[in-house]
Amino acid sequence: MQDKNTIGVYGLGAMGRNIALNIANQGFLVSVYNRDTEEGGDTLGDFLSQGVPVNLYRFSNVKDFVLSLECPRKVLIMVTAGSAVDEVIEQIMPYMDADDIVIDGGNSSYLDTQTRISKYPMRYLGCGISGGWYGALHGPSMMIGGSHSAWFESQEIFQAIAAKRDNQLACCYWFGEDGAGHFIKMVHNGIEYAMMQSIAESYDVLRRVEGLSNDDIASIFGEWNGKELNSYLMRISSEVLALKDDEGCLVDSVVDKSSQKGTGIDFSICSLKYGIPTPTIIAATAARFLSFSQHRKHIPFNQVERNDAKQAPSYAILQDVFNSIYCTYVVAFFQGMDLIQEVSKQQGWNIDLKEVASVWEAGCVIKAEIFKQLSKELTLGLSNQMVFCGLTEDRIHGLAKIIGTSATHGIPVPVFSSVLDYFYGISSSRLPAGLIQLQREYFGSHGFERIDNFGAVFHFSKGQGA
Ligand code: 6PG
Repeated sequence: MQDKNTIGVYGLGAMGRNIALNIANQGFLVSVYNRDTEEGGDTLGDFLSQGVPVNLYRFSNVKDFVLSLECPRKVLIMVTAGSAVDEVIEQIMPYMDADDIVIDGGNSSYLDTQTRISKYPMRYLGCGISGGWYGALHGPSMMIGGSHSAWFESQEIFQAIAAKRDNQLACCYWFGEDGAGHFIKMVHNGIEYAMMQSIAESYDVLRRVEGLSNDDIASIFGEWNGKELNSYLMRISSEVLALKDDEGCLVDSVVDKSSQKGTGIDFSICSLKYGIPTPTIIAATAARFLSFSQHRKHIPFNQVERNDAKQAPSYAILQDVFNSIYCTYVVAFFQGMDLIQEVSKQQGWNIDLKEVASVWEAGCVIKAEIFKQLSKELTLGLSNQMVFCGLTEDRIHGLAKIIGTSATHGIPVPVFSSVLDYFYGISSSRLPAGLIQLQREYFGSHGFERIDNFGAVFHFSKGQGA
């Protein structure tokens, strides 16, 4: 091999190998390395036997892999988030200079990224990549944070491989120093959890209330994907519901426990820590845990099951379910943006919410037509009521009806319920929080404010309370 290569990709799982191929397909010289090569595994062999571009070079030891790169060296790490990232960094570090660039392309916690940036001497980029294995190959959305000079020197590669928006601009952006990129990816995933759960709750309602078949629901979702609910998640839900195997519909054979790798948990902890209410995303995360609960199925309760399929579902319920998903998309987006605004302020990242929405316009899992509309409103700021403009009375009433119907049928709709509660909460002129304040004052003497004297702290006067 004559020239040095432009970038190295360490880790050739589904995401790593497709990112490597994507970069090579754009004409860059790429070095690849997978740990199992040294351990006698054949991931790399399998990969190479599929026919790869000539500008992709395989290495069987770490030193040669790192030293094959032009300076400043750029190593993109594509391994499972957690301790594996540190293990890889420790492995490559002896062959890297302080000016070289480590890029973590996994779903690392942004707090881990912050720690790594201060721990390791090399320049560092934390890069959230969305779009699954398909996106990795054909154009992902990338949310980047860390060393600005490192971004400046590697942005050409990111821009070449990223998904392109309608205006042909690349869906990749540097959001700020340290963990900003992984933070934005964490928020992306929180919104993703809420959207997924809202589609799952709709499926449950249509199945159990209306008695619709999986094929019926698949085609309804397909139809909705052609309307205002146009989104990647709506499309793939329609596709997977239609899948069949020897036993019939695949979805009926799948164990009803939804897993998670941890970004929903990270999101929930973060929003509680920063005091930003994100009940919809927390509810979606909790719903996954509930599906695994050891207490499930031990509590007898007669739920109303509907087996007699109607000839055709009523137009009204379809519209209400449609509206329920619509409201969830809007509210989850708002909650995510609210968290970004607060954390960005406290971390000094100065994140432009419009840029966030732009990066999510193509290539990522939460890509949705509605978000493109909402992003236009963000110019006026997040408090601008127009962000909620789509939440008309019709839609909110539709959501309320679906929650009521679900309650009567014993169908859990935690995300739908959280959306309505959130909406009613933030639009209420008066909440019952004053009573909580008096309860706190009663047992803890924590103080309370009065509406006729903001800012001052009051306590019970003599004779009040215990
Ligand atoms: C994406 C997805 C993806 C997701 C993992 C784990 O944007 O491509 O967000 O990165 O994080 O597939 O998802 P779970 O947390 O559901 O396991």
